[in-house]
Amino acid sequence: MSAVIDARIQAVLDRFSEAEAQPSLKLDVLDATVRGGGNVLPFRSPQPAQPEVTNAGITRKPLLLDLFCCAGGAGVGYARAGFEVVGVDIVPRPSYPFAFLQADAMTLDPKFLAMFDAIHASPPCQSYSDLAKRNGNGDEWPRLIEPVRDMLAATGRPYVIENVEGSPLIDPVVLCGTMFPGLRVLRHRLFEANFPITPPPHRKHPKVHTFDKRKSHFGKTNEWIDFVQVTGGGNCTLAAARDAMGIDWMTKGEINEAIPPAYTEFVGRQMLPVVLARAEASAVEA
Ligand SMILES: C[S@@+](CC[C@H](N)C(=O)[O-])C[C@H]1O[C@@H](n2cnc3c(N)ncnc32)[C@H](O)[C@@H]1O
Repeated sequence: MSAVIDARIQAVLDRFSEAEAQPSLKLDVLDATVRGGGNVLPFRSPQPAQPEVTNAGITRKPLLLDLFCCAGGAGVGYARAGFEVVGVDIVPRPSYPFAFLQADAMTLDPKFLAMFDAIHASPPCQSYSDLAKRNGNGDEWPRLIEPVRDMLAATGRPYVIENVEGSPLIDPVVLCGTMFPGLRVLRHRLFEANFPITPPPHRKHPKVHTFDKRKSHFGKTNEWIDFVQVTGGGNCTLAAARDAMGIDWMTKGEINEAIPPAYTEFVGRQMLPVVLARAEASAVEA
């Protein structure tokens, strides 16, 4: 694997090896033992846990690998759900808020993947987008969903693949900004998973703010109050896009690629019990 491992990812991995090396790890009554990636992981369920050191031993959160992480819209949601997150992107992502590994996600060593309790992947969507379909140039971008699915399925870990409408995901659920109080973005994203995800009800879409003078509601909406769309073309300012998506650290280019953290916080909360059940099953087998 050709990769630059920064100090933070090394620290995360070292800490987890340390947890594995604790032979007399004892957990308090509320903790469940999670076995993931060959490590024994104490994990407080169902509420997201904070990592803590106790006199009984080391406890830590379940570890999620965030593939194709960009600046971390998805990653932040999983962190809020209770996961410790490590991101991988093919280019440097200095604003990614967690431990970061620069690497081609398609060349990761299966032993590396096996260190994680769960995996999320957001492969590039350009090839599947409406724009590419209209322009007939989808072949100009890689189509990674099928090989990513094969790679994740082979790990045996709970996984999620996220992409745009029109992408070849299997039985995905659709999440939309209207489903999450506090968001003001119309942004449909599909989520395929190897565990069930129950989406919130999908409400009727409200009017969306526009810079387009040809639209009948041009000038009648306010980008700080009404719903917006966050696109390369630009239907709102960066400041309003950040406010609408619940993201305050991204550039325009990064936020155009991102999903709102609320989406993966929601998905992550449904993934946590699956991670726990898998760990309990592994512990019984061991
Ligand atoms: C749609 S963005 C992901 C957005 C992210 N999930 C979020 O919510 O902020 C896709 C990312 O995949 C990265 N990428 C493309 N090909 C890659 C590869 N082979 N390996 C790793 N990352 C790759 C791009 O640099 C880009 O940052």
